[in-house]
Parts: sequence; C-alpha cells; structure tokens
Amino acid sequence: MELPIPFGWYALSYSSDLAPGDVQPHYFFDEHMVLFRTENGEAQVLEAFCPHLGAHLGHGGKVRGEAIACPFHGWEFNGGGECLSVPYAKEIPKRAREGQCLYSYPVRECNRMVWAWYHPRRLPPLFEMDEVPELADPNWSPFDCYDWEIKAPIQETGENAVDIAHFIYVHRTVKMPTAKITLEGHRRSTDMTSVGPHIDEEGNVDFNRLENIHLLSKNCGPGMSTQMFSKAFKAFLLGTVTPISANKLKLRFAFAKPLDISEKFNLLTDALIAEIVRQVGQDIPIWQNKKYQESPILCDGDGPIAKYRRWFSQFYDDPAAERMPMRVVS
Ligand code: FES
Ligand SMILES: [Fe+2]
Repeated sequence: MELPIPFGWYALSYSSDLAPGDVQPHYFFDEHMVLFRTENGEAQVLEAFCPHLGAHLGHGGKVRGEAIACPFHGWEFNGGGECLSVPYAKEIPKRAREGQCLYSYPVRECNRMVWAWYHPRRLPPLFEMDEVPELADPNWSPFDCYDWEIKAPIQETGENAVDIAHFIYVHRTVKMPTAKITLEGHRRSTDMTSVGPHIDEEGNVDFNRLENIHLLSKNCGPGMSTQMFSKAFKAFLLGTVTPISANKLKLRFAFAKPLDISEKFNLLTDALIAEIVRQVGQDIPIWQNKKYQESPILCDGDGPIAKYRRWFSQFYDDPAAERMPMRVVS
C-alpha cells in the first residue's frame, strides 16, 4: 500500500534565501512550481509551466515589479496567476484575460520560512500556521540548518517521535523515554521525558546526579514540527518535512539558540545539535528500506503509535472525493 501525499502547509524555502527579485524553481508534491519574491517583498508561488508555450517560469523567469516575466516570450503573470501583459501583442488573448492562467498556491511567510499550502484537489487552506514567538525574537540566533532528501512517505518520519522503543535500538539511548501525546485538531504535542545528568544554570554537568529531561515537541499539521529542549539544553528546533512525491521527502532541521547563554551552554547545545543530526543519519537507512505496515502488531512498550496514526490520517484526502480539473485554463 502506498500512502498518498497529505494536505497541509509545507516549507519551500528559508526566507533569508529569497531576496526581492529572486526566483526559485521547485519540485514538491509531484508538481513543478516557481517561487519568487516581488520587488515589494511578497513571496508568491505559481505552478511552473507558462500557459503560452510551456516554459518553466522558474528557469530564467524575471521579477518585474509585482509580477514574473516568462523567460521564453516575456508574458507577465502576477502572484494570483493572472496574465498582466503580453509585451509584443496588440491585446492579451481572451483566454488569458479571463481570470487565472496559472494555479497560485496559498503562501504564508512565518517562522523564518516561506510555506505553500498543498491540497490534492486544490482546496483552500483548512487550517492556519502557528507562529513561534522565539523565531521572531531578535534575542535568538540565526538558524543553523541541516537538510536531507529521504525516500520515505512523510507519515513514516513523523512516527519516529512517538516510537519510543526505537530510541534504545537505533539511537542507543540508555533508558527508555516515556511520551505523553496530546492531540487537538491539526495540532499534536508530545512531552517526552528521559533521564540525564543534572546541569546547573552555568552549564556545569554533574553525572552523579540524574534528573528528568523534558523534550516538548509540537506539530502544526503534517509539515511543521517544533522541539523545545528543557533547561539543560537551550535550543529550539524547527523541523520541516515537505513531500517531493508520495514516497520521497525533504527534511530540514533548523536550530536556534538564545544569544545570551554562557559559553559552556553554547558548547553543550552544539553537542546536542550534533547528536540530533547524527541520530537522523541512524534513522535514514531504516526509513528508506522499510515497508509501511498498515496494521502493525504493536506491544505495550511501543508508545502512542496507533494514536499518532489516527491523528495523521486526518490529512489524507477522501479518495472517493470528486477530482476537479487541475488547470484553470484548459
Ligand atoms: S512560453 Fe511563456 S511567454 Fe511563451
Ligand atoms: Fe529516530
């Protein structure tokens, strides 16, 4: 059984990688698209292929004011996908005049990233993005970024956070963590408790004194997760998964730290970041070679896997829903 691409908000690019006038070609959700930033600073995402003779707007397209000009014959389209100009014609052809020529993806810019809404039937957004106050706070560092391309459906990588037993067998965690999961509509949060050495306010580590460490992870839909590490490690992780196709995804981890932490805490936090990145490397061969078990045999030590799957299933479109034509102009 192949899992379809779930609907949701998905990260396309870091905001800092998209200056006014920049144009980026992308391939996500099994669709070609162009992301550009207008001269006034708006991020826009359109389907990629020009309705004239099919050039890809993301390869050589140029921003002109609030529009993008096709690299092939210069037709211009605004962020809503309407044709504004055909520079060498006496008039804009009727079909191009009447409404949207290109599908325009709903876009949000928050949490230092540009996000596009995907729905297989192109329904408008069914929920909103959550903004993370730390990421708007100038007292938190710029992102430290990592990314991977992984051959797996996105449901599988998200399951990792609630799969308690794998921490011992894949990541060699000393003691099995516990997880409490809370589900609320498109939001999910997991409070994971594990045991670690005591760390004081200065960042001194005492291996003789163990204490509980909390990791609070939250999801806003299938494409965004945030993880806040408890006082021992001062770090914030924005994790994004963007489906490339049903069976392939882009995973990004972006870490931020408060700017005012001690040198010792900085070193500890950097070590934690390196450890998390190393753990992804341990998960990848499992994800890429596994099969999705639709009705797995679970045991009492497994963590809330069934609960996670029920929550995730809300992002799959009803397979019986009537398909609408994908192009506005045929
Ligand atoms: S293909 Fe885009 S203007 Fe001709
Ligand atoms: Fe893992």
